[in-house]
Amino acid sequence: MTSQVRGVQLARLLGQWHALPGRRRSPDYAALAGAVRGLLADGRLPLGVRLPAERELAEALRISRTTVTAAYRQLRESGHLASRRGAGSWTMLPGTHRVASTGLWTPLDDRDMIDLGVAALAAPPELLPAARAAAEDLPRYLGGAGYHPTGVIELREAVAAGYTARGLPTSPDQIMVTSGTQHALDLVLRLALAPGGNVLVESPTYPNALAALAARRARITTHGLATDAAGWDADLLLGSLRQGRPKLAYLIPDFQNPTGHLMPAELRERVVAAAHAAGTDLVIDESFVDLPLDGTELPPPVATFDRHSRVISIGGMSKPYWGGLRIGWVRASAPQVQRLAAARVGVDMASPVLDQLVAVHLLADAPAIVAARRTQLAAQRDALTDALARRLPDWRVTAPRGGVTLWVELDGPISSALARAAEEVGVRLAPGPRFGLDGTLERFLRLPFTLPAADLAEAVGRLAAVRYDLDRASRPRWQEPAVIA
Ligand SMILES: Cc1ncc(COP(=O)(O)O)c(C=O)c1O
Repeated sequence: MTSQVRGVQLARLLGQWHALPGRRRSPDYAALAGAVRGLLADGRLPLGVRLPAERELAEALRISRTTVTAAYRQLRESGHLASRRGAGSWTMLPGTHRVASTGLWTPLDDRDMIDLGVAALAAPPELLPAARAAAEDLPRYLGGAGYHPTGVIELREAVAAGYTARGLPTSPDQIMVTSGTQHALDLVLRLALAPGGNVLVESPTYPNALAALAARRARITTHGLATDAAGWDADLLLGSLRQGRPKLAYLIPDFQNPTGHLMPAELRERVVAAAHAAGTDLVIDESFVDLPLDGTELPPPVATFDRHSRVISIGGMSKPYWGGLRIGWVRASAPQVQRLAAARVGVDMASPVLDQLVAVHLLADAPAIVAARRTQLAAQRDALTDALARRLPDWRVTAPRGGVTLWVELDGPISSALARAAEEVGVRLAPGPRFGLDGTLERFLRLPFTLPAADLAEAVGRLAAVRYDLDRASRPRWQEPAVIA
């Protein structure tokens, strides 16, 4: 795949690059090179794309070609650009980088980095005993070939029992175990969406869901969520379903990522009815359903209102238990599960047996594990909101009633610039635009509260310092001169 970014496109991505912190101290070419490195670090400029020719970028940015030449030279020297004479220059990363769990590239030697790009907890203490007990169970499976495309029966029973306990009677043949919720989404899209199909998603939404949709070349329309506690606008959401008649809608009604919103029961019922009338399949991501905080009561699962097999629910172990388990699932009708399992043999055949057995043991201990997670998350959320109120009082925060993230409204459209500057002081951020489609959401930042309180307070301190520096950065010097006639 060869792709190329044109001068005007790169200029748009670079935005206010000349206003980055420290600008007063660094020459233009270094600031430009730094801004390109920042775009690579936050994933907005992919690896292996051809950058515009020097002259083209100089014209798009209205700066001298020598500045671009010097910036490209610096990027080559730092290992961020490979050039072949006469052919062009391609983005790359120096060998000291690895792919982070966010899918982004991060430095290898980043032990001091506080990673606020990932919204997931470290493993609970119960994980190791669960793994040992699972190994003891393994002999029961070793006599067979070990391929279970829908999952081992014990785990399917445990997951089905979880739904039934939430008021949604479910049998094990309605469950397919997957290698994580993301895998569940990918499989469902393969089955339910032809390439180029029309999909409705929330904005902001989970970036890796957008990546899965992009892989299906989906045509995406968005429903904008309000920043206040209401979240979804019922009329607009139902109107988008009725008028747009998308093939599929992907929604996260339980402590939405990134906003933390919880969809009320009444809207759940109306969304299912509207989807049925419009011929839309609903993919409901329940990744955070186990994590209500402060005793918040959960509305019924969206699938409770489904009479026509319109709702496919996906979920998994990553948020309440551990992402490293890579265990997720799909809840659908039994025939849909059979079709998904058939599609899966062309992808990965089945999930690992041992990991599924670990999941069975963790689910057997669910009430205790999940209660401890909620207590921990509520305390960390409060530590984060307190630190923000003290150090960055102009940022607006609505504390969510569950989940693991704050969706912060910043005091200006500075999210990407802040993320680049924060990287310099050892804080990794996921800037607002990563949660949308079109480079908007610059006024927003997702902050997870999955790290210990002390790390969160330290990170906020560093962000406050960097925020102050952004203001002190010099104004662009090459604004059009006023005509004097
Ligand atoms: C809404 C949502 N869906 C899916 C995932 C991916 O989960 P998993 O690790 O189970 O693949 C995440 C993880 O952040 C998420 O927030």
